[in-house]
Amino acid sequence: MVHGWANLSASVDSVFLFIMVISVILLAGVTGVMLYFVVRYSRRRNPTPESIEGNLLLETVWTVIPLILVMAIFWVGWKGFVFMRTVPKDAMVVKVTARMWSWGFEYGNGAHTDVLKLPQGRPVKLAINSLDVVHSLFIPAFRVKEDAVPGRETYLWFQPDREGTYDLFCTEYCGMGHSQMITKVEVIPAAAFDAWYREGGAAAGPAAKAPSAPPNGAKLVQEKGCLACHTTDGSPRVGPTFKGLFGKKETVISEGKEVQVIADEAFIHHKLLEPQEARIKGFPPIMPSQKGVLSDVEIAAIIDYLKTLK
Ligand code: CUA
Repeated sequence: MVHGWANLSASVDSVFLFIMVISVILLAGVTGVMLYFVVRYSRRRNPTPESIEGNLLLETVWTVIPLILVMAIFWVGWKGFVFMRTVPKDAMVVKVTARMWSWGFEYGNGAHTDVLKLPQGRPVKLAINSLDVVHSLFIPAFRVKEDAVPGRETYLWFQPDREGTYDLFCTEYCGMGHSQMITKVEVIPAAAFDAWYREGGAAAGPAAKAPSAPPNGAKLVQEKGCLACHTTDGSPRVGPTFKGLFGKKETVISEGKEVQVIADEAFIHHKLLEPQEARIKGFPPIMPSQKGVLSDVEIAAIIDYLKTLK
């Protein structure tokens, strides 16, 4: 009857429908009886009030039927819950990192992406972590949702059944950029995924980790989620645009005083690590510190990239 985009979609929808149907029947029943009583026991028909004694049969029926209904709801819910929490042994693990305000995905081959790439028809486990505050990962089409909690790994699993692109977003308010914390799930045929996985593994393997391969600033600002708040086309978003930022004279607020600074290497480096110490006038003080997120080499690569955005 119901079918979906992932293995859980159908069962979640079935339980939802089941509870919905029960609720509608109960609502109609209760409303019907209420309307009948309004007429049947109106003051006009019953000028003298009388005491009505209990009815054992009726009371037993209205206790037992709801009991059966709630136990049935509990049973389908429990079965679904156990299924959702039991990860198949052969599930592919993807590490998910949530941060203000973007998602990062890391695969077994060492590849990093900002879009969740998955093979069709294979179970996948998402191991979820947060670098700052509580976020929540939600893929509506797959009917899965799980909080990302700093300092703790949470998980969920599912099996995407149909190729396609689906929304993935944060569904726990996490600050100014919450509504920007949105990306996609790309479900591709298993063979195409395997080819990508081998290639990605080669590209992101030893070669990328070796110090000889310099990090790419343009890629970094995308992967680390900078573009959730900063644009490269000149339009301001939550934070100032990257376009023309390097070398620009900015008014910053430092220790409550306005100071003029030039956005040079030293300033940007410091700003990335200690954003609260000097905020740029006209923007909210919400830039998260990149300490432990970006290495010095990566910061230098980003600054080099900023220099190109004239
Ligand atoms: Cu992250 Cu809302």
